[in-house]
Amino acid sequence: MRFGHFDDERREYVIDRPDTPLPWINYLGTEAYFGIISNTAGGYSFYRDARLRRLTRYRYNNAPFDFGGRYLYLRDPGTGEFWSPTWQPTQPELDEYECRHGMSYTQIASSYRNIRARVSYFVPLGETLEVWRLRLTNERAEAAELSVFSSVEFCLWDAQDDATNFQRNFSTGQVEVVDGVIYHKTEYRERRDHFAYFACSEPLAGFDTARESFLGPYRSWDRPIAVERGSSSDSVAHGWQPHGSHHVRIALQPGETREIGFVLGYWENPRDAKFDPPGSQTINKHMVRPVIARWLRQDTVDEGFRALREHWDNLLGGLQVSTPDGETDRMVNIWNAYQNMVTFNMSRSTSFYESGIGRGMGFRDSNQDLLGFVHMIPERAKERILDIAATQLATGGAYHQYQPLTKRGNNDIGSGFNDDPLWLILGVAAYLKETGDTSILEALVPYDNDPGTEQPLYDHLQRSLRYTLDRLGPHGLPLIGRADWNDCLNLNCFSETPGEPFQTTENATGGVAESVFIAGQFVLAARELAGIAALVGRPGQEYLDAAEKMSGTIAEHGWDGAWFRRAYDFHGNVVGSASNDEGQIFIEPQGMCVMGGVGVEDGTAATALASVRERLATPHGIILQQPAYSSYRVELGEISSYPPGYKENAGIFCHTNPWLMIAEAIVGNGDAAFDYYKRINPAAREAISEVHRCEPYVYAQMIAGRDAPTHGEAKNSWLTGTAAWNYAAITQWILGIRPELTGLRVAPVIPADWPGFTAVRRFRGATYRIEVRRGDERSLTVDGVAVSPDAVLPLAQAGTDVEVILTVS
Ligand code: BGC
Ligand code: NOJ
Repeated sequence: MRFGHFDDERREYVIDRPDTPLPWINYLGTEAYFGIISNTAGGYSFYRDARLRRLTRYRYNNAPFDFGGRYLYLRDPGTGEFWSPTWQPTQPELDEYECRHGMSYTQIASSYRNIRARVSYFVPLGETLEVWRLRLTNERAEAAELSVFSSVEFCLWDAQDDATNFQRNFSTGQVEVVDGVIYHKTEYRERRDHFAYFACSEPLAGFDTARESFLGPYRSWDRPIAVERGSSSDSVAHGWQPHGSHHVRIALQPGETREIGFVLGYWENPRDAKFDPPGSQTINKHMVRPVIARWLRQDTVDEGFRALREHWDNLLGGLQVSTPDGETDRMVNIWNAYQNMVTFNMSRSTSFYESGIGRGMGFRDSNQDLLGFVHMIPERAKERILDIAATQLATGGAYHQYQPLTKRGNNDIGSGFNDDPLWLILGVAAYLKETGDTSILEALVPYDNDPGTEQPLYDHLQRSLRYTLDRLGPHGLPLIGRADWNDCLNLNCFSETPGEPFQTTENATGGVAESVFIAGQFVLAARELAGIAALVGRPGQEYLDAAEKMSGTIAEHGWDGAWFRRAYDFHGNVVGSASNDEGQIFIEPQGMCVMGGVGVEDGTAATALASVRERLATPHGIILQQPAYSSYRVELGEISSYPPGYKENAGIFCHTNPWLMIAEAIVGNGDAAFDYYKRINPAAREAISEVHRCEPYVYAQMIAGRDAPTHGEAKNSWLTGTAAWNYAAITQWILGIRPELTGLRVAPVIPADWPGFTAVRRFRGATYRIEVRRGDERSLTVDGVAVSPDAVLPLAQAGTDVEVILTVS
């Protein structure tokens, strides 16, 4: 069952009923001011940091599920009837409803009692504000008088404090209303640097800034007293809950259309701001007034919207493909690339599942996200790499997370996830492959942000590799520490005495548990570093030797007979082996070892992949491990805390699936690679939206595995490494348009029944127009000249167009 459809032409997903299985959200903002918005206008906004600069409130995990938003009400004074044109919060029986989620904008349109409404929401480029544009058309035979009410509930900036510290916060709220603009200025007394504003293009019939005055006692947003009554009370909040609501009265002739603009924004004084008046506690209205005036004008809004569209044309223009499969095209050309940009902006901070106050930027996560956006924004990718690397510790280890505002390592979480440092090598390799900019290796970057410790980035990469080699366990495999990629595989948890409290991961990083996954990742990273060394004329043989040695260790202690083992626990017991009663086979080492090239030549890779197909693959995607753990096991940690079929305990953890797609492509199996791709491609799952339940236009972190009663149900959409890795799998390995250190390679491993495909790829400033077709013999021509089909394409001059024709048999 579908709840909408794709409009590829406009790059929109069109939702045609408001009661989607879950709120289907979109993101507003591209640089500093951001928000999430659901298909019924739920969501919130923030400036840079969703925890510390939250503009509006949102009530996570409430009933109804999606609560708090950018709400509007229309009221017909003739009948006293009122409704929300975005459905929430009054939930009217709309005659028509449509939500269009596009690239950084959302439009919700509806019709009720012959009043047509359309609200467009977006954040203009370069601004720290959001525009809401309401368009109303009277489709009645007679004139219509209407009242329009807006509504936002302000958050007192620190979202965590806002949700908990009521003894203080009920007394701090402050607002000011001047010339119809509502200013939210809580905290301005002491900080004197930031405030929010909410303005409307029309003369006001009234306003409210005290929530209780707007809603009325014991009422909620579904029937605010001001709307029911048809008049605001011009309330000014003193403490309690600052709120923003405008009231506008309009009259529309039959067939007449009118637009009303609203602007909600954030203002931060420049450091040398002159105060207004000097020395006062008044906010700096004189600076923001011109900005507000501009964005309330329709021509500015039209121009801003056009610029936003152009911005996305440009970003998405980095790669456009035309394949025999429409669902591949719409993900590669539009939604997967878009989701990659959202993970760049949000990391794991703000979604319907991430509250904005939890996790900062992940060291591991951010390095992997790079794979998905580096070709669109190489400059910002470089900046991101240098930020991440500056949090690395002198040991080569890494803080697991860092804070986006301070860019400092997060001491609460600390370090000890032993896969973390190796991701830096993989992230830098992705950057170098895309850009060829080897100067990044010379960039001086401190350790732990400690001035005076700066070393070239290359040194950081060397220490990353060293970190693993300095921490090998009893079998010569890398120590896992607190966990590896699988945060929940906490193998240094143990209980001295059965039944006694067990030691947690935090104090057990010194344990001896080992990870085959990290071993595979090490082989991959060491080979990448050797490639980088060769590129810049440094010695790299030792990395190749170390990779070789580690491959041998995997063969000796990491191979189980039909697949790669997962780990050894604190007691030296094997994990992920046929000899285990549960958790016999895990997906991660099968993907990572093969990506590192382990077993590709001797055929063990193919055997491992066959085992995955037989034991882990389901129609909804590949399960993380089997059999699921049926009960909690202290010696394995959090993984076994999940009921079977969910998350790391045998869920379909989508992030790992593309590793298997890549592995299948590496062994030359295009049909299997593409088959796995289709199983979790959200667009290909659109027709089963009642089962999948999450948005059909973006990847979710998890789909419930076959041990779960809800097999096939997705959760945790948007902020997941799944996005970047799937993008890499389909574009670089299946379609095979792969940046390498020395240039662009075209090496497709496509399904047998594909006649070919075409693609346009921007690469190092040139535009490659690629055609892949079938023929008797493999051949490659570049601008009409035959070259070896196994070579990387000769580097073209920036600004030129290159025609590439690859014939595959
Ligand atoms: C989840 C993991 C996640 C981790 C983040 C765990 O509860 O299962 O998927 O990475 O939390 O801290
Ligand atoms: C989500 C985390 O963000 C990611 O870093 C981790 O690898 C996976 N969960 C698996 O545990």
